[in-house]
Amino acid sequence: MQIGTIGTGPIVETFLAACQQVPSVQVGAVYSRSGEKAAALASRFGIARTCTTMDELLGDPAIDTIYIALPNSLHFAQAVQALQANKHVILEKPMTSTLAEAQALVKLAREKGLYLFEAISTRHLPNYRQVRQDLSDIGPVRLVQCNYSQYSSRYTQLLAGEVTNIFNPVFSGGCLYDLNIYNLHFVIGLFGRPQAVHAYANKAFNGIDTSGTVVLEYDDFIATCSAAKDSASPSFQIIQGEKGYLDVAGPVNSCPSYEIRTGSRQETVNLQTQENRLVYEIEAFASCLARRDWAQAQSWLSESLVVMEVVEKARLEAGIVFGVDEV
Ligand SMILES: NC(=O)c1ccc[n+]([C@@H]2O[C@H](COP(=O)([O-])OP(=O)(O)OC[C@H]3O[C@@H](n4cnc5c(N)ncnc54)[C@H](OP(=O)(O)O)[C@@H]3O)[C@@H](O)[C@H]2O)c1
Repeated sequence: MQIGTIGTGPIVETFLAACQQVPSVQVGAVYSRSGEKAAALASRFGIARTCTTMDELLGDPAIDTIYIALPNSLHFAQAVQALQANKHVILEKPMTSTLAEAQALVKLAREKGLYLFEAISTRHLPNYRQVRQDLSDIGPVRLVQCNYSQYSSRYTQLLAGEVTNIFNPVFSGGCLYDLNIYNLHFVIGLFGRPQAVHAYANKAFNGIDTSGTVVLEYDDFIATCSAAKDSASPSFQIIQGEKGYLDVAGPVNSCPSYEIRTGSRQETVNLQTQENRLVYEIEAFASCLARRDWAQAQSWLSESLVVMEVVEKARLEAGIVFGVDEV
């Protein structure tokens, strides 16, 4: 896999550091609107080429895959451009601002026979995958509770009236799309599409959500997904079944370990050895592409579309308005 990256935020640095640990992945070029930023990033990771126009990046025949880490509202247009240039795409979470955009991207990728991956780390973590295996031990699930809360320094800026991208409705920001999306992936990845979705949000002066809760109703249990950027809490994901429970302690985007407690089993599980949580997803994408495992890629995409459907329902029910709604 020969990757070109778009964006220069902290997640790109984490992504590039992870790429260095996956032998089958090379990064051929980094793109930024600023030549200086591109050069600084490239030199930190020993990358030979920098680009300041999309044409340069997409015209590079050595690059087969584009990693897009831009503000959420820009994902769709950039991904369309990359797919139209016949590149595979790794798209940061959430895939797009709307379900319709995500569906259009998936359709385009399928028509062109290209791989489109959503960079959602949770799905590829060994601990998360093992939680799925262990679910049967806790009996019929009755309640799921997830909380992913991190006080954001950009919330302090927001309180002072400064709207950064992450709290800007024009860029499809806000806590639901930034943090609670991980909880939705966690629950939907294990249990599929819920029967009903209810959502509640705390909002700032500009209408963007700064924290909130989504309730997912399933046939015989309820999941609550909470997240906050305006306040802190220990992060956890607890799945309660009639015969015991699973308690994943820590942020849902890294699932550092979990405890399982049943009548016959009391254990702490941690199968993860990588410090950089993105290594697992990059290995998964590179291996999927190398094996040309189209069925696997489509199955991940189908799940991502269900998450987009649910997050959009939640957003509309909570009255969170994005710039894209007003076009
Ligand atoms: N997977 C994860 O754990 C994780 C963690 C953090 C973020 N993310 C996702 O990564 C994406 C980027 O997040 P971020 O916090 O890095 O966003 P950001 O700082 O607001 O923007 C990312 C990059 O986009 C470019 N950019 C910013 N504003 C732009 C504009 N108006 N027009 C064109 N380009 C612009 C900038 O690159 P240049 O100035 O260099 O062009 C910037 O470095 C989001 O989708 C977010 O959800 C994922």
